[in-house]
Amino acid sequence: MSELVSFYDSLVDELETMRAALPPDEGGSFFNRPMTEHELVEWLSFQAYYEMRAAQFIGRWLSDTPERDAFVLLAQQVEDEGLHYEYCMRALERRGVTSIDNWRPEPEWEEWIDAWYPSGDDTIERVASHNLAGELGACNAFVEIKTRVPDDVVKTLDRIIPDEHFHMRIANTIIDKYATNEDQQGRVRERVTRTFDLEQAGRVAYNRRMVRLGLADSGDPTPPMPG
Ligand SMILES: [Fe+2]
Ligand SMILES: [Fe+2]
Repeated sequence: MSELVSFYDSLVDELETMRAALPPDEGGSFFNRPMTEHELVEWLSFQAYYEMRAAQFIGRWLSDTPERDAFVLLAQQVEDEGLHYEYCMRALERRGVTSIDNWRPEPEWEEWIDAWYPSGDDTIERVASHNLAGELGACNAFVEIKTRVPDDVVKTLDRIIPDEHFHMRIANTIIDKYATNEDQQGRVRERVTRTFDLEQAGRVAYNRRMVRLGLADSGDPTPPMPG
C-alpha cells in the first residue's frame, strides 16, 4: 500500500471491497419501486429510532472522551443526530404518526444499534464502528433510498446527508490522529469488519420484516439499510 494512502482511507477501501463482494441485487423491484406509505412509515420509524439512539450513545461517550478535539467534534455530532431524529419524526407526523414508542426494532437491529455501536473501549474503537463503517453504510443507503421516496422525504434526506459526511470526516480526523500503532489499528480494523457484518444482518432482518408485513416478497433482494 502506498504511504500516501492514510489508514482511514485504507479502511474505506476495504469496506468498499467487502460491499462489492456481496451478492448482486439483480436489479430487483424492491429497491427500484416507489415505497408504499406503509413501508415509508416503517423505514422512517427505523431511521428515527436509529438517529435517536445515535444522539444518546454519542452523548454518553462525552463523559469518557479525553481527547479535546474529539470531545468538541462529538458534541457537535450529538446535536446533529438529535436534529436528524426530529426531521424523521416530522416526516412521520406528516403521515399521522406522532410517536415511535410502540414501534419495536428487530433483534438484529438491537444487537447492532443498541449493543454494538455504544460499545467500544475508547474513542478510536467507537468512531471506527459508528462514524466510519456505520455512516458510510448509511450514506450509501440514503442514496439508494432517495430514488424511492416522495419529495418531502428527499428534502429530509438532503438535510441529513451532509451532516453524515461531516461525521465521517470526524472519524477520518480521529482515526488518523489517534490510531497510530499496530494494536490501535488492529482494534479499529476489527470494529470496522464486525460493523459491516452486523449491518448486513440488519438488512436481512429488514427484508424479513417487510415480508412479514406484506410489503415485499420473500424472493426480493435485500434493501439498503442506513447504519
Ligand atoms: Fe444522523
Ligand atoms: Fe451521523
